[in-house]
Amino acid sequence: MRDLVSVNNITKNYGDFCAVDSLSFSVGEGEIFGFLGPNGAGKSTTLSIITTLIDFDKGKVAIDGFDINKDRLEAKKLMGMVPQEIALYKHLTALDNVKFFASLYGLKGDKLDKAAKEALEFVGLSDRMKMKPKKMSGGMQRRLNIACGIAHNPKLIVMDEPTVGVDAQSREHILNSIRILRDRGATVIYTSHYMQEVEEICDRIAIIDRGKLVAIGTKDELVSNVTDIHSFIITTKFPVEFDKKEFEKKIAYLPGVKNIYLDEWVIKVDIQVGHNSVNKILEVVIEGNLPIYNVVSEVPNLETTFLTLTGHELR
Ligand SMILES: Nc1ncnc2c1ncn2[C@@H]1O[C@H](COP(=O)(O)OP(=O)(O)OP(=O)(O)O)[C@@H](O)[C@H]1O
Ligand SMILES: [Mg+2]
Repeated sequence: MRDLVSVNNITKNYGDFCAVDSLSFSVGEGEIFGFLGPNGAGKSTTLSIITTLIDFDKGKVAIDGFDINKDRLEAKKLMGMVPQEIALYKHLTALDNVKFFASLYGLKGDKLDKAAKEALEFVGLSDRMKMKPKKMSGGMQRRLNIACGIAHNPKLIVMDEPTVGVDAQSREHILNSIRILRDRGATVIYTSHYMQEVEEICDRIAIIDRGKLVAIGTKDELVSNVTDIHSFIITTKFPVEFDKKEFEKKIAYLPGVKNIYLDEWVIKVDIQVGHNSVNKILEVVIEGNLPIYNVVSEVPNLETTFLTLTGHELR
């Protein structure tokens, strides 16, 4: 895959505070690239740098080979930005808002009109073309915000938390739209606070914290780099006279078993991924005549990986 975006060692300081610290990564053409990090991690700052909205102190960014400092105009033409803060003209209609933003990229006349209408249709707002943003719900404003960023058909679409404050239906619509944009050939950089969204739609993910890159890769790569252990938890009830030591021994001998935790109600076994000892564990439980009230398999996911890597929850 060819790189469409290459970010090399960028640093951005606000006075003494370093918001983005020697950050490097690249985004392949046609990827949906997720940017994950807690509040204040530097996500919006990085996206604003890439889209030339703010300057930076050190490093280099190229979009399709165009250096954003040296070949700024060429680079800008390739990008569309959907900002975290909704940026719309309240006194203009939905159509005029989209036309205004698309006109900044040189579209004019019929072409502009057609592109704006297509973008509104794309975000499901073609029946609201004459409505002004002030009369729209938050979810509709979000979708209009997206239409403004994509109408000029950019090669690279940068979306900063496009689903904040929208209902489940609008969110699904937005996520689907992003997939369609990718399938049509666009490259998307995407940030969200919703881990599930990022897991669902992103081909690759960068985790950043305190302005630094913590990890990068596909979801499976990120998870397996952090842990290869999954937990198997059975809710049961050990009778008082039960020989727990003997029981523990039998399970400990099974392949891939790394750790066993028993209390009166719970059997928790940590197993190395790749060993399918679950059936055998259940056999031992059944042989011991223990009741099985509930069975849960805790597979490591992006959430636990994120927690391990950054030491805090996303929100
Ligand atoms: N104009 C500014 N002046 C001073 N500090 C700033 C400015 N803009 C951002 N910062 C600081 O830089 C850091 C990174 O901010 P940024 O908005 O990039 O974070 P983020 O990862 O997008 O967070 P969020 O998830 O809350 O959107 C924060 O500590 C923020 O306070
Ligand atoms: Mg932000």
